[in-house]
Amino acid sequence: MTLPTTPSFRLDGKRALVAGASSGIGMACAVALTEAGADVTFAARRAEVLNGVVSAVSAAGYTARALALDVSHTNAVREVFEAQPYNIVVNSAGLARHSPAVETTEDDFDAVMSINVRAAYFFAQQAAKAMITQGIGGSIIQISSQMAHVGGVDRAVYCGSKHAIEGMNKAMAIEFGPADIRVNSICPTFILTPLTRPTFEDPKKRAWIDSKIKLPRVGKVEDIMGAAVFLASDASGMITGTSILVDGGWTAG
Ligand SMILES: NC(=O)c1ccc[n+]([C@@H]2O[C@H](COP(=O)([O-])OP(=O)(O)OC[C@H]3O[C@@H](n4cnc5c(N)ncnc54)[C@H](OP(=O)(O)O)[C@@H]3O)[C@@H](O)[C@H]2O)c1
Repeated sequence: MTLPTTPSFRLDGKRALVAGASSGIGMACAVALTEAGADVTFAARRAEVLNGVVSAVSAAGYTARALALDVSHTNAVREVFEAQPYNIVVNSAGLARHSPAVETTEDDFDAVMSINVRAAYFFAQQAAKAMITQGIGGSIIQISSQMAHVGGVDRAVYCGSKHAIEGMNKAMAIEFGPADIRVNSICPTFILTPLTRPTFEDPKKRAWIDSKIKLPRVGKVEDIMGAAVFLASDASGMITGTSILVDGGWTAG
């Protein structure tokens, strides 16, 4: 009898680019892909912060590269992918500006949509274009949010931006599937990072978070690392056009 073989979770021989890798969830995902064997480029705007991260990765015995990149500059993104196709791309560059919907300013709306939707869209577009041109298939992973599946207090703009990610991922999954390019998202609950520190430090908001997460703790960046490796690897080879909720049960009810 021939037993089935578990598809590999390893990423040896794969090239990965992680945008938003200077901090928080993106940095954790980039480290996870590195540990799984991928050749990872850590990208974000702050070159000096990235250099510190890459030095720490090197000190841990891995090879990593730093790339200064603003994902809102589509021409720069295009140049990156034209110079070098990647098998795995993760986009964790994101922004939050919360307000009651009746008070949202056009500035805040445009700032959030410009990074969370527009930049995410063209990042995936250019990544896929390079994969198709080189005939290499791959995995595109957007760091979305649990707020792509539910509403949240003062979060009409943020929720709108993250729901948009899910829609564009589904359509891109249909279009890119024949080229063996998978498109998925990871939807985290509240994870303590520089982005969410102000929310965590507000006792009322902290109580709201604690009341919604079913497990007895909040999220940490390590909780996202396994999902990133899974979606990047052959272990998820038949998964596309969907999302993995890492939400501690928030959306369960
Ligand atoms: N933390 C949470 O609870 C949580 C929950 C659900 C979803 N998310 C999502 O997860 C993603 C990452 O959030 P985080 O909490 O890890 O935030 P974070 O610690 O503030 O990290 C954001 C990262 O994005 C980079 N970035 C921002 N604008 C960029 C741009 N224009 N070009 C390139 N890089 C850019 C930042 O680097 P530079 O400043 O160096 O460019 C930084 O590395 C976001 O999309 C967020 O919406 C977070």
